[in-house]
Amino acid sequence: MKPISEKPIIDIRHLVKRYDTGFTALKGVDLQIMPGEIFALLGPNGAGKTTLISIVCGTARATSGMVLAGGHDIVKDYRAARALIGLVPQELTTDAFETVWNTVSFSRGLFGKKRNPALIERILRDLSLFDKKDSQLRQLSGGMKRRVMIAKALSHEPRILFLDEPTAGVDVELRRDMWEMVRRLRETGVTIILTTHYIEEAEEMADRVGVIRQGEIILVEETAELMRKLGKKQLTLHLQQPLAAVPGTLASFDLTLADGGHALVYTYDTKGERTGITALLGALGDAGIRFHDLQTDQSSLEDIFVDLVSTKP
Ligand SMILES: Nc1ncnc2c1ncn2[C@@H]1O[C@H](COP(=O)(O)OP(=O)(O)OP(=O)(O)O)[C@@H](O)[C@H]1O
Ligand SMILES: [Mg+2]
Repeated sequence: MKPISEKPIIDIRHLVKRYDTGFTALKGVDLQIMPGEIFALLGPNGAGKTTLISIVCGTARATSGMVLAGGHDIVKDYRAARALIGLVPQELTTDAFETVWNTVSFSRGLFGKKRNPALIERILRDLSLFDKKDSQLRQLSGGMKRRVMIAKALSHEPRILFLDEPTAGVDVELRRDMWEMVRRLRETGVTIILTTHYIEEAEEMADRVGVIRQGEIILVEETAELMRKLGKKQLTLHLQQPLAAVPGTLASFDLTLADGGHALVYTYDTKGERTGITALLGALGDAGIRFHDLQTDQSSLEDIFVDLVSTKP
């Protein structure tokens, strides 16, 4: 456990963003990110993920509320705050005719940092881009371009890295490489905030997950704790004889009929000490219901997420 006294490295307080169109994209977001963690912001299209990141990184202005990065107010103390932050934007923006090496080196210069060819080389090697260092960006594949964006974001040695959908549209192998890279970065002490639609990405990578929906953070939880709290298991019993309805004597169990009455699905809580399965099997025996097979399914974070985002407020 982290010491309680530890200050958040990103502290977001009651952030509201109303665009000129009158649309409110963030409705009072509070969020604290702790140093050294990997935080996944999960939410459907249009939830406000990019808006939130843009405000923290200073490319959009909040309507009200405040953000501290490393203790610096991102508006009043913009330069100090921004120097701590690396941003890999969702949209790729690069000069197509510039080389990989120059693009990444130039990015470092923008932050007023001294030239450091050894560092640039290491970043490019870590991202398997070094053999492309003299290629123009237009000569790279989409996945390579995305890696260049990451190299740019790392060029000024940020302590906090924002990755806005880093693995959108990249193949499975590159996605694994990126996860690996993010983990290595974290080992060097970098705090990482990533947005994603991919549940397995959050489940695989993140220490904590925040779910955002319609401009509101509706849940923040440690990934493992979320699984434990919301983890449900299902036991499916394949019946020898189909049932027309769940018998009244079994009403106290959470049962539903499936497969045209050929299966009974029992939902139970994995956090409870008793699953109720022994009692259920006894009650089934008493009711004369026989089954020829059974199987269990653990709900994944994906199911949980779908539940959360589909529930109307
Ligand atoms: N410049 C803008 N002007 C007006 N509305 C905007 C602007 N940018 C974003 N929005 C609106 O704000 C909402 C949140 O958009 P945002 O890009 O933050 O979502 P997102 O969670 O990043 O979605 P995605 O997963 O598709 O990237 C959307 O309804 C979007 O249409
Ligand atoms: Mg977005």
